[in-house]
Amino acid sequence: MCGIVGYTGPREAYPIIIKGLKRLEYRGYDSTGVALQNGGLNVYKKKGKVAELEESIVGVNLHSHIGIGHTRWATHGEPSDRNAHPHQSASGQLAMIHNGIIENYSQLKQELINKGYSFSSDTDTEVLLNFIEEIKKNNNCSLEEAVRVALKRVTGAYVILLMDAGDPGTIIAARKGSPLVIGVGKGEHFLGSDASPMLEYTKEVVYVNDYELAIVKPDELILKNLGNEKITPYIQKLDIELAAIEKGGYDHFMLKEIFEQPRTVYDCLRGRLDAAEGTITMSGIQQYAEQIMNANRIVMVACGTSWHAGLVAEYIFEELCRINVEVEYASEFRYRNPVINKGDVIIAISQSGETADTLVAIENAKNNGAIILGVVNVVGSSIARISHAGAYTHAGPEIGVASTKAFTAQLAVLTMIALKIGYMKGTIPQKRYMQLLNELQEIPEKVAWTLKHSDTIKALAEKYKDAHDFLYLGRGYNFPVALEGALKLKEISYIHAEGYPAAEMKHGPIALVDENLPVVFVATKDPYHEKIMSNMQEIKARKGKVISVITEGDETSASLSDDVMLVPEADEILAPMLTVIPLQLLAYYTGLAKGCDVDKPRNLAKSVTVE
Ligand code: AGP
Repeated sequence: MCGIVGYTGPREAYPIIIKGLKRLEYRGYDSTGVALQNGGLNVYKKKGKVAELEESIVGVNLHSHIGIGHTRWATHGEPSDRNAHPHQSASGQLAMIHNGIIENYSQLKQELINKGYSFSSDTDTEVLLNFIEEIKKNNNCSLEEAVRVALKRVTGAYVILLMDAGDPGTIIAARKGSPLVIGVGKGEHFLGSDASPMLEYTKEVVYVNDYELAIVKPDELILKNLGNEKITPYIQKLDIELAAIEKGGYDHFMLKEIFEQPRTVYDCLRGRLDAAEGTITMSGIQQYAEQIMNANRIVMVACGTSWHAGLVAEYIFEELCRINVEVEYASEFRYRNPVINKGDVIIAISQSGETADTLVAIENAKNNGAIILGVVNVVGSSIARISHAGAYTHAGPEIGVASTKAFTAQLAVLTMIALKIGYMKGTIPQKRYMQLLNELQEIPEKVAWTLKHSDTIKALAEKYKDAHDFLYLGRGYNFPVALEGALKLKEISYIHAEGYPAAEMKHGPIALVDENLPVVFVATKDPYHEKIMSNMQEIKARKGKVISVITEGDETSASLSDDVMLVPEADEILAPMLTVIPLQLLAYYTGLAKGCDVDKPRNLAKSVTVE
């Protein structure tokens, strides 16, 4: 997520802004910049780190008492100097930074192009800034009024900070859907995406709410709604430390990212899924939709957790699109000299977009004529750039080494692609299509419901943390979730865990079962339910401990289990986005109970960029 900093007051602005941007680096970014008012508006920005920006402007006159700064996590337009913020308006009179996504920016951009505007970047931010300038010019009104009028036309999420060369000392800010905090000092004000840039100067803050607009001067803070009605700022005294802010108040990034999932799944669906209209819009793959629809074969290529997402996607695409799907470990696919036919579609799934095995695997496939789609979280990453097309997961930076929110976002994207292609092919009955769209829209709330039961799972972790081995079992769509649950436990708590198709037990693994072996069943109500309950009985009969992820209200499965973790009812195709949540929490709390470094587990890297 982008980082935002602003200052207006008697101090030198630049050092405050740069230090504030460094406080926000934990949010993840790929470019950065500052704008200062010193005899006009001066903007300094570049791709890369804050320290590199600093180095690039050593010796420049940076004297100013007002400024804004930004660290950009790319959503529209890949990381580059020209796409970095702040952006300047066509006249050069306005400078703006933005955190969020303007969903209707294409339409606004076309309106401006028709009026003769041109653009120096690919960003939605530059469009919004010039839209504001156009209104200011046309209506001959104040910047504040122009912002109010413009934001009534905007759909999407935003925090914006603007400066006007004609009004030195004033910063205008507005927010909807992204965070904005204003620090209140003596004759000075600070602005930030969170309180970390201002904590050392003031602990008195105002949290700006959605649809509010702030006019910020050194000695005055005016808050208004978009109806131009004044609002009395509510000043709070912070008692939080810097380290806690970076983790959003959670003890670890992994826990924060697990609990972000209602929001990140929502962000993934936003602007794409319209259940009321019955449409799925995915501009990133639109150009290749026909080729995907007519593909003889789709190959999912990935590693680790992303490979598990590919396995879920295999079941989804085969059911909804009736296309043959294979799932390949990238590390095997790249060395195996696989058969690649022209017109094959390869879907590369990767959170980092930099996994070496996946990158090389798709380079080989591309050279052999395959169409490459990237389902990637990091905008502008290598896998995203090498792909012909794709869809970003918009999960925001994932700091914890264990992949959690990226996995559910990958499932959301892959499900939308399969629904779109299946609908185009006519392989999904209209009724089922609409049922799935409506249910998919409810997933963020169902994820939030599941997270409310985290205390139960924390107690389970305490109970089973001394086991030496775990088995994770599932059937159908929940089989890949069993694999993912086992991986999470292994990599966070260092306890050996294996995932298996539940029906596979009788072919060998059941020999492992005794009173010391906890067996986790992913056993929601689906067509396999009767069969998996038989598998539970087989484990019970051999004194194994049965821990089950079950559908809320499923008393039968509960009666066969020693312990249960609950998820709401959901269609089997969508269930993995819910059933994985308790397993993420089980791994986290078990690792915590064993004193492991849950954000940075031993021997692991967040992105495996080596072979
Ligand atoms: C998952 O928790 C691990 N961190 C690891 O398996 C990871 O999923 C794998 O390295 C693939 O990474 P990617 O999604 O960035 O390509």
